[in-house]
Amino acid sequence: MSKNFQAPKGVSEYFPPISNEFERIIRKLENISLAANYHLIELPVFEDTELFTRGVGESTDVVTKEMYTFEDRGGRSLTLRPEGTAGVIRSIIEHGLDRGQLPVKLYYHGAFFRAERPQAGRYRQFYQFGIEAVGVDDPFLDAEVIGIAHSAFSALGLKNFELQITSLGDEPSRAAHRVELLKFLSAQSLDEETAARVAKNPLRIFDDKRESVRKMMESAPLLIDYLSNESKSKFADLQRALSSLGIPFVINPRMVRGLDYYTGTAFEFVHHGLGSQSGIGGGGRYDGLMRNLGGQDLSGIGFGLGIDRIILALQSENLIDVSNEMSGYLDLFIVPIGEAARLRAVALIDVVRRAGFVADMGYGDRSLKGAMKAADKLSARNVLVLGDSELNSGKAALKRMSDGNEVSVTLDSLVTALKSAL
Ligand code: HAM
Repeated sequence: MSKNFQAPKGVSEYFPPISNEFERIIRKLENISLAANYHLIELPVFEDTELFTRGVGESTDVVTKEMYTFEDRGGRSLTLRPEGTAGVIRSIIEHGLDRGQLPVKLYYHGAFFRAERPQAGRYRQFYQFGIEAVGVDDPFLDAEVIGIAHSAFSALGLKNFELQITSLGDEPSRAAHRVELLKFLSAQSLDEETAARVAKNPLRIFDDKRESVRKMMESAPLLIDYLSNESKSKFADLQRALSSLGIPFVINPRMVRGLDYYTGTAFEFVHHGLGSQSGIGGGGRYDGLMRNLGGQDLSGIGFGLGIDRIILALQSENLIDVSNEMSGYLDLFIVPIGEAARLRAVALIDVVRRAGFVADMGYGDRSLKGAMKAADKLSARNVLVLGDSELNSGKAALKRMSDGNEVSVTLDSLVTALKSAL
């Protein structure tokens, strides 16, 4: 008995027609990023494990529970990338990209890996589109980054989402808050695991999903109330810049990002149609990351958007009609009848494709009826049947499938005919 293979548990896969939607989202994000002077960086899918333990942080679930770590044949510990920022910064340092004009503006997209418990919108292999702007600490740049995500969501037609922002402050703000937060937490009775998390990073407790802990944290001191004057003024500038861009936002002072490197501006886009996995994208500023990874002391800001969740969000707002996804895609389908017609058809579609049209033909030993059915299923916009009489006369009927209208066209000038038909 042969085995029936299945994809590994919890991975997302995209095939036609929905993969066209996937592609469309990436293209849109790419165009918006290119227009703001961000350029592609293509990164390795696996990196030195320590890049993530040091970069993403030892107190995070991502590092402690969710990494796909393995040893390669040379005994090196490697990890499938759980996120993109650490890799981007590693590459900037390694290749000296920060020696030129700052900020370094990069975008990336691809598969990321986290061994999470799979559920709707949460996968073990998922897709992100991200950007990073490194080397300039300016709230107007923060607004640009947030604005790019906002433009993309809007351009895709999404409406039912909300931008949440907060400031996680600079070092003095965090130090002041930490003292008060630790004072507050030491007065609570915490179980062993929670106490261990407090020791690593007390801010993580704001992210605890247990009802009892959430209740306890309602009266905990908030970082936003301990911002230094500098952090406060940057946060105010960010809000002014967002307003000037016409981007609505709410302040969520309880936001805790899942990765440890954030300082200052932090943000999340939350979609209301997605249930518990509602974050369609998030990001923020990271002051110490580059230094921490052995580079210059440069600040950066970026985001990661979840393509899988954007697709779910589009579906929840009825913005994807999968049944319609392929219609109009194929400009021409040629149905050849007989060997001579097949020979002419392959040459004809080649010419049509070179002229920039999308064209296909009936392959295999198909009846006329079968081939016409295929053309219909493919939602071809035009169909051309090629038999002996067409070959003899050099002319054929080009049939427009939307209304059945036929025009007689000369085979030698098929491209011209197609141009006027479309
Ligand atoms: P993140 O918030 O961990 O940030 O992930 C960004 C987005 O990726 C999330 O908002 C979500 O849409 C998507 N995502 C995360 N995990 C999963 C999953 N298991 N399944 C499906 N989608 C998921 C980062 O990764 C940071 N590197 C973003 C960033 C860039 N910050 C600064 N620069």
